[in-house]
Amino acid sequence: MPDRRFFRRIQSIMLLAVGLLAACTSLPGGVSEADPATGAAAQPIMTVYKSPTCGCCEEWAKIMAEQGFSVRTENVADINQVKAEHTVAPALQSCHTAIVDGYVIEGHVPAADIHRLLDERPNVLGLAVPGMPMGSPGMEIAGRAGEPFDVLTFDASGNVRLFTQYE
Ligand code: CU
Ligand code: CU
Repeated sequence: MPDRRFFRRIQSIMLLAVGLLAACTSLPGGVSEADPATGAAAQPIMTVYKSPTCGCCEEWAKIMAEQGFSVRTENVADINQVKAEHTVAPALQSCHTAIVDGYVIEGHVPAADIHRLLDERPNVLGLAVPGMPMGSPGMEIAGRAGEPFDVLTFDASGNVRLFTQYE
């Protein structure tokens, strides 16, 4: 009878394969295509603009890549210019600004909210999690409790509405 160690080895080989697959699908350029092997649907392309020194931005981008987005990160010298270009009001601002399928994603927004945004396609500019709430994706610190935070929609006229509340 095969023992536990055997299963564990198989498991780690499979994890490696999944990791390589993820690395391949996150290569820059074009619309990512359906995987012929798994038949998985194409992943929305997400461009993450961040300052070169932002660590939590990298953490968030990694989570997005794990949760169904084809992520490309771009380091910019002046992130405020990106926010101004995409009409992200100062009160909504966080560290990174991402663009996915025509929507602006400001800060540590959970992947589930972005998937919902792309399903529902409301007439807004995008989603924002202002500041950098502890416990939001990419802002988890082991042993520290998360704080409640809101995901907001915003539009070009300055309307801000609650999209999801995280307790
Ligand atoms: Cu951050
Ligand atoms: Cu960030």
